[in-house]
Amino acid sequence: MKLAGFERWLKETMGLDASTIGPTIVDRALRERMAAAGSADLAGYWQTLRASPLEQQELIETVVVPETWFFRDREAFAALAQRFGPGGSGERTLDRLRLLSLPCSTGEEPYTMAMAMLDAGLPGERLAIDAVDISERALAKARRAVYGNNSFRGSELQYRERHFSPVPGGWQLGAAARERVNFQQGNVLDIGFLPGEAVYDAVFCRNLLIYFDPPTQARTVAVLDRLLRPDGLMFVGPAETGLMLSLGFVSAQLPMAFAFRKPAANDAAVVPAAATAARPLPKPLPAKAAAPAPAKPRPRVAPAPAAIPAATPAAAPAANAAPLQIAQRAADDGRFDEAIAICQAQLREHGPSVEALYLLGLVLGAIGQATRAEDSFRKVLYLDPAHEETLMHLALLLDAKGDAAGARVLRSRAQRHRKHEIQGGGRT
Ligand SMILES: C[S@@+](CC[C@H](N)C(=O)[O-])C[C@H]1O[C@@H](n2cnc3c(N)ncnc32)[C@H](O)[C@@H]1O
Repeated sequence: MKLAGFERWLKETMGLDASTIGPTIVDRALRERMAAAGSADLAGYWQTLRASPLEQQELIETVVVPETWFFRDREAFAALAQRFGPGGSGERTLDRLRLLSLPCSTGEEPYTMAMAMLDAGLPGERLAIDAVDISERALAKARRAVYGNNSFRGSELQYRERHFSPVPGGWQLGAAARERVNFQQGNVLDIGFLPGEAVYDAVFCRNLLIYFDPPTQARTVAVLDRLLRPDGLMFVGPAETGLMLSLGFVSAQLPMAFAFRKPAANDAAVVPAAATAARPLPKPLPAKAAAPAPAKPRPRVAPAPAAIPAATPAAAPAANAAPLQIAQRAADDGRFDEAIAICQAQLREHGPSVEALYLLGLVLGAIGQATRAEDSFRKVLYLDPAHEETLMHLALLLDAKGDAAGARVLRSRAQRHRKHEIQGGGRT
């Protein structure tokens, strides 16, 4: 048995395309397992592997990439809280919000989902998060919920004060967030994986598909599609966005969140490029004049599916729209420097605008430039005091730097504006 045979076994069993991590890693993993199993050569190890489910799991444990940390790509969690938190358009009023983290690795991702939703004000008993991973070892760490410095990256760590307490060897997550997450071992490629249909309001499948080849990616996305509610959101990693578009998902237009939704019946008319191009441009940002907003109720910026027309010829300034679309796409693809440069050029050439400042704030926030992000968001609010998304993002930044009172004020401002809009809409 040669290396290629083991690589084939890994692909069939867990989806891993060895070329994504490099042959040396697989080779090293095999040598490590051969030594542990007492096999003299690859042929002997192959026999052991085929005969022993325990050894199969050990080999899987040796090749998985468990890299993860709290609030990784934090805009995804802001978008989740905004959509499904109290007052959000996806709020579930009667039953529980159900979320899935797959793969959850050592737990940082599902626990972040719990912290984000609890911080947004969702009562714990209305939140249920399922978290699945193929690695038993990763799950054991997740269940312990004690984390070292590597899990806390970046400078915005105030959530740690709120949710963790120091223990020997790291930080222990508190019960409030822990109790919301149910961990289970599972392989997304297994027949019968998470049986059932469309139960989740949001699925996080981040940084898994990058390790799969195209057929396995398509198979995995079909499983996730089955599990996601028709109005649900699917979050992927920055490098996985193009794949989702090519598999028929539609950008949820939540900048930097790398979020997608299922296509609606009228999407073909809205995004004609989707039929022909592998990677259609996201729908245009709603263009808006640079002048301060009038005090009248403003339309919600968070796009309802298919609510934004493909073009808004009457909106001004039309010249700004295309560069900002490009900036948004660069941001969605993780090309943050490019996105920042385009926003800054727009601001230089056309003066302050809500769209450019808002996107700039999101990108700066995503790369950990919290002070500059805050500055950009404050400029948005100067132009448009009711800009709901900015109020929510700025609240998150204030939360992160420990200004809980300031964050509360911004959130209640956002809720007030939202109510005002709903009531205004009801009267017309
Ligand atoms: C890089 S981590 C991603 C963790 C988290 N989603 C994030 O983005 O931070 C990849 C995880 O995928 C898991 N994994 C790999 N193949 C899998 C499969 N077929 N089914 C379930 N989990 C798998 C690995 O065990 C590993 O923990």
